[in-house]
Amino acid sequence: MSFSFAGRPGEKRKNAGTVDVAAHYDSLCDAEKHKKRSASLAFGVRRCNNALKRELLQTYVPAPVEGGKGPVLLDLCCGRGGDLDKWRTVLSGDARVLGVDVSLDSVAEARRRRDEARRQGKPDLPACVFLRGDAASPALWQSVDRLAKGLSQADQWPSVDVVTCHFAAHYMWATRKSADDFLRNATCRLRPGGVFICTVVREATLRERFASSCADAAVGVGAATAGAFGNALYKVDFCASVGGAKRNSVAHVAAQLARHADGEHAPLSYEFSLVDSVDRCVEWVVPRKHFLQAAARHGLRPILCDESFEGISAGARANVERLTQSEREVVSLYGAYVFCKEPAAMEKK
Ligand SMILES: C[S@@+](CC[C@H](N)C(=O)[O-])C[C@H]1O[C@@H](n2cnc3c(N)ncnc32)[C@H](O)[C@@H]1O
Repeated sequence: MSFSFAGRPGEKRKNAGTVDVAAHYDSLCDAEKHKKRSASLAFGVRRCNNALKRELLQTYVPAPVEGGKGPVLLDLCCGRGGDLDKWRTVLSGDARVLGVDVSLDSVAEARRRRDEARRQGKPDLPACVFLRGDAASPALWQSVDRLAKGLSQADQWPSVDVVTCHFAAHYMWATRKSADDFLRNATCRLRPGGVFICTVVREATLRERFASSCADAAVGVGAATAGAFGNALYKVDFCASVGGAKRNSVAHVAAQLARHADGEHAPLSYEFSLVDSVDRCVEWVVPRKHFLQAAARHGLRPILCDESFEGISAGARANVERLTQSEREVVSLYGAYVFCKEPAAMEKK
């Protein structure tokens, strides 16, 4: 299996932390890379993910009250503006979107795409503002408010109706505090009755495939390695070498996964690669129980809980069924959560 590392010449690979993730995603933003990506092996996966995100918006974004304006949507970890067309076709033209991403190059590319769509006169394009920000920083909203100060009144963000975070919450679970700060950022401006939609790597899938890798390695199936699994499109490695030492021992992974089952945060990282996309990027297991408990402390009531993509609807299942087996294995890594913010929710300790 060969993955192309998208780093800049001379870029040093680092192993954890937001800045590294930003550098990694910055490096994906050159035009050559884009051309390659459209033809890449993971194209079917992206098409399926896009259909799913569209469906989640269509299903869960509250319709405007009669005569009211379209929703205000915050997209945390928005990436390069790949969802512009979904917002244009699903939300109404008077909706407003704030996209936040830690990668400056991604934010620049999102603005470029928005400006291009405006120049092309695409109808119903909501007003979209893209700002750089760290979704797991306790100072996120201070910096958003500071950056938005110079913008018009319409570009202030005292309250939002919908928050989305797609394929990125697994960068936030390095510490209990970073997970908590992320959830606070996602919810503190969300109005009561508003929704939070989050697609993330499923703990259950990681757990199952980790166990299979250990069982296969124990009986010598092919080139199986305990703690690592994947196919021609993706690879997850819990026990990769980092500077001569293993990221985790197999025993440590098993112990942390057991703690997750008890609802603990128990930080657990792994390296993730997706062909022509990310290369050995560090992610953190988002334990389902801990996520739900922490979300409840922030006043979030689950509506859809860790649902596999094909479980979301017949349409989503049809999309998944069109994929190759390898593509399905990638798509089934992810699940969707949808929460509703409780009225008068107070953050509980
Ligand atoms: C896999 S991409 C997903 C992009 C987009 N949400 C989508 O669905 O296509 C993950 C994104 O998360 C961003 N990201 C990672 N950590 C972040 C953080 N702490 N704060 C804000 N953005 C972050 C990366 O820069 C990258 O753009």
